[in-house]
Amino acid sequence: MSLHLHRTEFGNPANAGNVLTRDEAIAILNDWVKNERLQLHMKQVAHLMKCWAAEREGLNEADQWRWEMAGLLHDADWDQWPEQHCKKIIEELEAQNIDPEIIRAIASHGPNHFGVEPVTKMDKMLYAFDELSGLTHAYSLMRPEGYEGMELKGMKKRFKEARFAANVNRDEIMDAMQRAGVELENVMQFIIERQGGVK
Ligand SMILES: [Fe+2]
Ligand SMILES: [Fe+2]
Repeated sequence: MSLHLHRTEFGNPANAGNVLTRDEAIAILNDWVKNERLQLHMKQVAHLMKCWAAEREGLNEADQWRWEMAGLLHDADWDQWPEQHCKKIIEELEAQNIDPEIIRAIASHGPNHFGVEPVTKMDKMLYAFDELSGLTHAYSLMRPEGYEGMELKGMKKRFKEARFAANVNRDEIMDAMQRAGVELENVMQFIIERQGGVK
């Protein structure tokens, strides 16, 4: 099964700044994603994107929402249409005349799978957060206290343990960190401190 998108242009530049409302985005999430664990993953990545846009990039509220929206919908088609992963949500957002930068960020969240290189900081951070967020959540599930008292040290240990959450590709995470120009430990700490509050 190849998820390669075979294109590098997304959306229409004339639609720059067009977004869904939060209610509209949540409606797609609820409609398309029945798997609660996947829904939580998408909300976690969305929250991290919003926090990073605000705290690290100093972006305004409109831009924070663009980052958040990309996180919120990046896996929207994975639950029901895995063989069309990425393609279906991209086409939906294109049909709704959404900002091409948001569509592009979603299209490049797995460059090794979709064949689309992350270019903007939004693209790169979505790629950087995606798998590492999942690994952090897997770690929280094996801790009786969940996220409470989670430390960087433990997280780093899990990262090095190939058998732990073996489906999470560590090389891909390192590739994402390098492309985004961020330190693995720094992003781990960022996630540890913010992800637990997402329900
Ligand atoms: Fe994905
Ligand atoms: Fe994801």
